Amino acid sequence: MDNRPIGVFDSGLGGLTAVKELVRVLPGERILYFGDTGRVPYGTRSRETLIRYTREDIAFLSSQGVKRILIACGTASTVLDAIDPDPLIPVSGVLYAASRRAVAATKNGRIGLIATASSIRSGLYEKIISSLLPSAEVVSRATPLLVPLIEAGRIHPGDVVCETVVREYLAPIRDAGVDVLILGCTHYPIIRGIIAAEMGSGVTLIDAGAAAVEEVKTSLENADALSDGRDPGVSFFVTDFPEGFAAVGSMFLGSEIAGRTVKIDLSEKFTAH
Ligand code: DGL
Repeated sequence: MDNRPIGVFDSGLGGLTAVKELVRVLPGERILYFGDTGRVPYGTRSRETLIRYTREDIAFLSSQGVKRILIACGTASTVLDAIDPDPLIPVSGVLYAASRRAVAATKNGRIGLIATASSIRSGLYEKIISSLLPSAEVVSRATPLLVPLIEAGRIHPGDVVCETVVREYLAPIRDAGVDVLILGCTHYPIIRGIIAAEMGSGVTLIDAGAAAVEEVKTSLENADALSDGRDPGVSFFVTDFPEGFAAVGSMFLGSEIAGRTVKIDLSEKFTAH
């Protein structure tokens, strides 16, 4: 048994899609969520910048005494190979889990992928998918307008701006005949309804954060590291003013998070707890 919290981070709201799933599958756990809202978006950054940000995010969560860290950010997950984590605090990302799920779900071998510009530029999804299913064809597209729309709360079906942008981005992917679409950025499941309506019922949507949560659950079970369930709940940390994050975050999670969101300063030196 291990009663320390699970640390989860993203550039902003996106990782909440993983938190929602974590709470659903592991309701007894304490979760610390960190949204680097002062530096969102990550999806336009260079690899060097992403490595620096990701190291700082991991250092902060490690300083809070977590037992493991989930990088609930597709973009930051692309630099996982360059991170030198504390061997006592396992760190995982979302790319492998999402790719495994996509490969298991596809019947025709045509897999769609939408993600941030940095994630698409990394080419990592293609590499992982072809190692799992060499015959797979990945139809990918960077969809950079979606994160700002979601962070601005334009998340409801019927939002004309969001629906128009989604339609334009997805049309060529749908027309390519994919039967699976990876939501490679953890922000995107927040507008899952809009994306699903555009792709049609024949296309399975893969939520990268949820796929990764399933693997976190299995690894905690295998390591006998689940908590005793006596202190469940989620605490939130951000790097910019909490109100904007809390407003959209509460809407998405379906519970008020305003009073539970603390602003932190990443320029402090954080050392492992
Ligand atoms: N939610 C993140 C991802 O999964 C990052 C979005 C962004 O900050 O650009 O890629």
